[in-house]
Order: sequence, then structure tokens, then C-alpha cells
Amino acid sequence: MGLRTLSSLGDLAGKRVIIRCDLNVPLKDGVITDDGRVRASLPTLNALINQGARVVVCSHLGRPEGAPDERYSLAPVAQRLSELLGKPVAFARDTVGESAADAVASLADGDIAVIENLRFNPGETSKDASEREEFAGHLASLADVMVSDGFGVVHRKQASVYELANLLPSAAGLLIEKELEVLDRLTENPERPYTVVLGGSKVSDKLGVIDHLLPRVDRLLIGGGMLFTFLKAEGHEVGASLLEQDQLDTVRGYIAKAKELGVELVLPTDVVVAEKFAADAAHEIAAADAIESTSFGAAGIGLDIGPDTAVAFAAAVRGSRTVFWNGPMGVFEFPAFANGTRAVAEALTVVEGLSVVGGGDSAAAVRQLGFSDDQFGHISTGGGASLEFLEGKKLPGLEVLGWA
Ligand code: 3PG
Repeated sequence: MGLRTLSSLGDLAGKRVIIRCDLNVPLKDGVITDDGRVRASLPTLNALINQGARVVVCSHLGRPEGAPDERYSLAPVAQRLSELLGKPVAFARDTVGESAADAVASLADGDIAVIENLRFNPGETSKDASEREEFAGHLASLADVMVSDGFGVVHRKQASVYELANLLPSAAGLLIEKELEVLDRLTENPERPYTVVLGGSKVSDKLGVIDHLLPRVDRLLIGGGMLFTFLKAEGHEVGASLLEQDQLDTVRGYIAKAKELGVELVLPTDVVVAEKFAADAAHEIAAADAIESTSFGAAGIGLDIGPDTAVAFAAAVRGSRTVFWNGPMGVFEFPAFANGTRAVAEALTVVEGLSVVGGGDSAAAVRQLGFSDDQFGHISTGGGASLEFLEGKKLPGLEVLGWA
């Protein structure tokens, strides 16, 4: 596989190691609501600390536009990291300025510092390679070697992910190694039956993955906001539910391709329809081919898969040996519309084989619904990255580490 791993960097005692993590966690009023990505970074950080490296952690958080913005500061993340590691974590108020230089200069062997959000600098995400190289050069001056461990960001050709890995001796950390091992099992000879469950709001986000996976899977279950574009493509009215009109032809193409390949493409048979998009909205169950038959008529909005569908989806998941799930089945943030997502999550916990929850919203959903990480085979830290990996795309942040 060619991926350079930690051992390729030799003895790291006393060396300054800059590690690119993905600590892009959800925050509400400055409080981390899901620290999964921080926890997922711990094995590599501990390995570096235990070797006596001087560890400089860098990450982005959110999408600030190339300038400092307090709302996206990594300060709460550094604090959480310190709690989880059980040791002090220095925090630099800038990324490549005086504060960062001082924080790095003060590190003793086995110490750790976090520098401020990489995206406070325009060079991090610049489209211009020379600007990215310049910024990466500043980052490189903080360290002797680079470890790349932010799996969630390997699909981005950004300064800290790509150019920095070219400027210093670099290797993948343990998280990237683990993610690749699992995702590879989904593409190379998965145990069968192999079921993929897709949800989330937009079909357009999932086009590549549907295209790539259709010939590889036995069953594709469709839930979430995108199910309505599928229902409409089959000729059913969907009321005021989310609909991507411009994807109807593409979706018809998938339905036809699934038939041709003998893949079971399973759409909901019932839906929870609400009066409006709100946590306390009145709601009724409707057959999937009669969404406008509720008392809300054409104004009704589908916000979850229905109870019969939840049972059917759960049974399909339980009966599989390999399952990949990306995207909630409904608006799980509202308890009244979380049942479909909960049913699929529950079924995933009893799969006899490999069950993978693909990043982003689905990871947040299972944790918010009270499941713990160890109930699943693997929870990927990459949303977009895991999808692009499964689409078979070449990811710049992996190629630069020797992965082919
Ligand atoms: C993610 O949340 O998927 C990663 O952290 C990447 O973030 P981005 O989409 O803002 O690049």
C-alpha cells in the first residue's frame, strides 16, 4: 500500500514533531458538543509523547475566512485535549507568529502544544499553490518532522495537509492507518451480504458514492432528506419535502442501473410527515406513495422514515456481514423524528461482521442518541473524506504520504 507510517520517521525523542490533526469538532456557545475527533487523535499523540517528541498540534476548526475569528478558536479544543491526555497542553494564540514560536521553543521532551486555527491564515486554503507553499514553509519552520493524522481532511489539497507533508520528512499517524485499513475492507472483497445505508439531506452530495458503490454492494437503502428525490423520480408526490429537482434524471439512472446489476435498491414504504420543520411539529405517518394524503396535504414535510421502513431497514442491516452507513435517516436532532436513525444505529450494533459509521452527521447522530463508539465496528472521523475514499478518488493528503 506504500503508506509511510510512524516507524519510517525513526527515533523521535527530542525531535519537534508537527502533527496535522482534524480537531474540527462541533461547538455550541464555545462548548464542544461531540469530542469524538479529539479522542480519535489520542493514540498518535500519546505515541509521540511517550517517545519523548516535542509535539506541535495543528488543525482547522470550521470555515473562518482566512482571518482570526474568536468563534473558531481552538482554545476549547486545547483545553479538552489537556483533560483527555491528563497533562498540560500549551496553547499558542497564533499559528505561525510569535506566540507559536514561543510555545514551540518552550517545549521539553514529551511536552505538547496546540497552535491556533490554521484557517485564520489565507495561505492554508488558498487556491494558489505558491501561497500554500509559503504558509507551509512557515509551519515547517516550527518542526523537524511532520505527522499527518487528520483523516477528515485528507481530501483537501491544503497547505498543512499537502504542501507541509512535502516540505518535511512526513508519515501517517495511527488514526489514518486505522481508517484506511477499515475503509479498504469496504472496497476490497467485503464479506457478503454487503449493505450500504445512505441518508442525509442531499442526493447531490452522494452521487459519486452511489455511482461507485452500486456495482459493489448487494443492497442500497435510501433514507434521509434525499429519499424524496428518489420517491419523486418513481413518480410519487412528496408534498413540501426536500426535493432536488435537478437530480431526478440522475436518480432515475441509478434506479435503472440497480435493476440491471441485480442490486436491491430499497426505498421507504412509509414516512413521518410533519406540519412544519420544527421539533414540536404535529406529524402523521403516511405511505411513501401517498405523502400528500395526510391532513397537512401538499404542505406536509417528510422528516423521518416511517416505522415500517425502520423495521425493514433494521432487518436488512442485521442480516448483513458488511454495512457502511452515511447520513441520518431523518431530522434526528428533533426527538420526534429520530426514530429511523435510532433503528438503523441499533441494528448496526448487532451486525455480525464489519459495521462502519461514516463520519460527520452520522457520527454525531449515534453519539447524540446515546450510543457509544465501541458498539460499532468503526466510526470514521471523515465525513467528506470517507465518502470520497469510497468513491475511489485519489486523495491528495494520502497520495503525499505514499498511498497509491
Ligand atoms: C470535516 O468536517 O469533514 C472536515 O473537518 C473537513 O472540513 P471542511 O469540509 O471544512 O474542509
